[in-house]
Amino acid sequence: MIQFDVLTLFPQMFESPLKESILDRAINREQIKITIRNIRDFAEGRHRVVDDTPYGGGGGMVMKPEPIVRAIESIKKPYPFARVILLTPQGALLDHDQVCRLAEFPHLVLVCGRYEGVDERVRLGFVDEEISIGDYVLTGGELAAMVIIDAVSRQIEGVLGNEAAARNDSFSDGLLEYPQYTKPRKFRGLHVPEILISGNHQEINRWRRRESIRKTWLRRPDLLAHLDLTPEDCRTVDEIEREGRF
Ligand code: 6GU
Repeated sequence: MIQFDVLTLFPQMFESPLKESILDRAINREQIKITIRNIRDFAEGRHRVVDDTPYGGGGGMVMKPEPIVRAIESIKKPYPFARVILLTPQGALLDHDQVCRLAEFPHLVLVCGRYEGVDERVRLGFVDEEISIGDYVLTGGELAAMVIIDAVSRQIEGVLGNEAAARNDSFSDGLLEYPQYTKPRKFRGLHVPEILISGNHQEINRWRRRESIRKTWLRRPDLLAHLDLTPEDCRTVDEIEREGRF
């Protein structure tokens, strides 16, 4: 069981995406728990103001520190060891290794930044780490929080119905996934590769490994560079290089 608390100004954004299919089943089986909290509920005054103009001038609004820190503290009080993560394009880039690392924490607090940013003192005093999901800017951290919840949850034991599914994924062995086919055997003149129908599982596994290496070499050579390839893998790479790109 892993617990996620999300702090956001837009709680409605989380209503449907987390309640479909695998995540919904994981919630019902109590393998994951997701609590969405509105930062505005922690703001004071009649208008519950959550943002203000930046010191030093310039455009835009900055999220005030008090409501966010009160929200964080409301979770830390019952759960002092919860890991607090600020979602921001300035954070460390999320990749498969980071997802697996996050899946080891029992409790993640995902703080969604909005507007032009969050008062620096939140980061300095109340956040354990900052994460970005890619080199582009989103209007807020909400979609990034959903990406993290989805990617981390499927690493939790039992969340994927078929345990083998997570192990065979793209990236789990550092390679992109091999091509998948289902019925019909012939579709619009395109055939399923004979080897997959052969029933020879040793040969099927060799073919899949080969196709994973081919796809990775063609699309993401940066990933191959970090891997320990077997001698057979190296022969595969040599052959693919001789065949050329397609
Ligand atoms: Cl975590 N937040 C925002 N606002 N933009 C992003 C991001 C996060 N990751 C990539 N772009």
